[in-house]
Amino acid sequence: MIGNIFILVVVIALVILFGWLTYRAVRAQKLWVKIVGGLLAGLLTLILAAMVFMGGKGIAVTYFPDEPAAPNLTVAGTPEQIVRGEYLVSLSCVGCHGAVDTSGNPSGELPLTGGWNIAATEGFGFMGSMVTENLTPGGKLAGYSDGELFRVLRHSVDQEGVKLGFMDFLPYKELSDADTEAIIAYLRSLEPAETAVTTGDNMNFVGAVLTGSGMFPPSGWGAETVTAPPEGETAEYGQYVATFGECRGCHGPEMTGTEASMAGPAVPNPRPLVGELDQAAFFTMMRSGTKPDGTPFLETMPWQNAAKMTDSDLAALYAYLTAEP
Ligand code: HEC
Ligand code: HEC
Repeated sequence: MIGNIFILVVVIALVILFGWLTYRAVRAQKLWVKIVGGLLAGLLTLILAAMVFMGGKGIAVTYFPDEPAAPNLTVAGTPEQIVRGEYLVSLSCVGCHGAVDTSGNPSGELPLTGGWNIAATEGFGFMGSMVTENLTPGGKLAGYSDGELFRVLRHSVDQEGVKLGFMDFLPYKELSDADTEAIIAYLRSLEPAETAVTTGDNMNFVGAVLTGSGMFPPSGWGAETVTAPPEGETAEYGQYVATFGECRGCHGPEMTGTEASMAGPAVPNPRPLVGELDQAAFFTMMRSGTKPDGTPFLETMPWQNAAKMTDSDLAALYAYLTAEP
């Protein structure tokens, strides 16, 4: 943060310098100095001024986002909460926050020590690093209150209120209060484990400029309380399953696919294929990782998580994917 604010100050100084040089060039005696010098210095002034505007905005929305207060809350940590939390974490969080292998890639396995630099693997490392956190009590979460951890999931800001770049893309704001608390209960019950690498975001000035340009629109704050729809094999509950099952994070909020963007390549609309299948064939596909025509899912489609879903959650997902979006 300090580094980016320092660079911002330097760029502001450069705007003033080039602005002054433009003024001098325009008032020069020689015509060519007037034209060439004025144009060059003027152009540079404009580019630098745009960098100040967008970089300043990126710094403001990231470090001073005017975040909601953390709720005052103590999670009971009942055995039921821990079991529910373990189920939820095994479906989604573990894919990114699981231990990394020696090459730094996520293993999708416990312990939840994190350390995966998503920005580098997904091709936006030029904006800085975004390294998944250690979610065990061996990491920084030990110093978070339950309310602060709740706020991470509901509003995507850290303990200091700084925006979490990647978590903000994910649909966890829509998790019910009960499920959010269950996740906290489970994370608190884990054995402390250590992470070898530095975790968290480290956005550089390029990242600040791109953020300020509006390229990654923030997803807004979550609601103060969220209640899940009644559990059952319905399309409504299936949409909620697609939320905690992370499907909507990749396939788009309505599960109709997403276009290629800075955040990654295009993801297909799964509805046409699922619509051709009966429920049994859908279960087989999601649990074997092989489509009915025999092609396996690509590595970019984490079916292993969906395979862990209960029958009734998968049935709800099927109802949702075969209903009108
Ligand atoms: C697609 C990958 C991905 C998934 C899935 C994911 N996270 Fe994260 N998480 C990240 C990244 C990357 C960071 C580092 C900060 C950032 O860029 O958002 C992070 C940071 C965090 C932090 C640290 C916040 C802080 O204060 O610094 C917590 C807590 C967290 N995640 C919890 C979870 C939980 C719980 C789940 C599952 C419900 C989850 N995450 C799922 C990628 C992911
Ligand atoms: C990390 C991103 C990601 C997540 C999470 C994800 N998917 Fe996918 N999914 C993909 C990608 C990429 C493809 C295309 C590659 C392929 O077909 O193997 C795909 C393909 C599919 C297909 C096949 C579509 C077709 O027409 O061939 C279905 C069905 C599907 N996903 C369902 C789901 C469901 C249900 C969930 C949640 C349990 C889910 N996906 C979660 C990325 C994701």
